[in-house]
Amino acid sequence: MWGLQGKPVLVTGASGGIGGATVRRLVEAGAVVYASGRSVDALNTLAAETGCKTLPFDLASEESVRAALGGTDIWGVVNCGGFGGEIATPMETDIAVFDHVINVNARGALLVIKYASQSMIRNGRGGSIVNVSSQASLVALSGHISYGSSKAALDNITRVSALELGKYNIRVNSVNPTVVMTEMSEFYWGRPEIGGPFLKQMPLGRWATEDEIAVPIVFLLGDGASMITGVSLPIDGGFTAC
Ligand SMILES: NC(=O)c1ccc[n+]([C@@H]2O[C@H](COP(=O)([O-])OP(=O)(O)OC[C@H]3O[C@@H](n4cnc5c(N)ncnc54)[C@H](OP(=O)(O)O)[C@@H]3O)[C@@H](O)[C@H]2O)c1
Repeated sequence: MWGLQGKPVLVTGASGGIGGATVRRLVEAGAVVYASGRSVDALNTLAAETGCKTLPFDLASEESVRAALGGTDIWGVVNCGGFGGEIATPMETDIAVFDHVINVNARGALLVIKYASQSMIRNGRGGSIVNVSSQASLVALSGHISYGSSKAALDNITRVSALELGKYNIRVNSVNPTVVMTEMSEFYWGRPEIGGPFLKQMPLGRWATEDEIAVPIVFLLGDGASMITGVSLPIDGGFTAC
């Protein structure tokens, strides 16, 4: 069903919540998983638990991404590494924070696609890439000027990459999750005056779990989605549909 048995798949953000859940699901599906992030201890703990390999690098550095991916045989990529930045309006935003959010979430994901796709094309076996975007790219969320912009850029990287890589049988898709209560989101969405009204507007009316994001990622990565490329798939309990 998934067709991932024995295939080498890189997961960035694997030291975090959604990335860690994705590594566990991919290992279950038989993929050879390279777990990436900067926190070597967290990656080693995940490797001891799941049997995944580790490939630490810094998404903010082209040299670091190139050195890690230049000689690595990759069939699939989950671009899950990300940085939340700040909650601010366009009138008050700190442009240094904006630059860093774009640097990690959009530029970093593009760097991974750049070097991983070179290996995929060289190997001639096709491939699949899933970018972890956000509901914040699809609608305007208060305070999300930097983060939403970075994820909107990522969705366009998805579409253009799907266009350019299709002829090599490499598919590229995004998932656009709602809030999962990981370290990244708790400080803001965990406040009752913020989270309460938001959940009232969402048809399913609850936060997503890490696994509810990981399973659709594995679906899009694998053969069950063999005719799907260039999409941004909301995983948002219906929030952006209403
Ligand atoms: N949680 C949510 O509500 C939510 C909703 C929608 C979308 N998302 C997206 O889902 C993805 C995962 O989020 P999460 O909630 O699981 O966050 P998390 O637990 O905070 O994990 C973030 C991950 O990104 C990695 N990372 C950050 N900066 C990096 C850098 N410069 N170089 C390499 N790795 C870096 C971190 O690794 P190190 O710390 O080891 O460097 C960590 O593994 C992100 O792209 C996020 O934007 C999250």
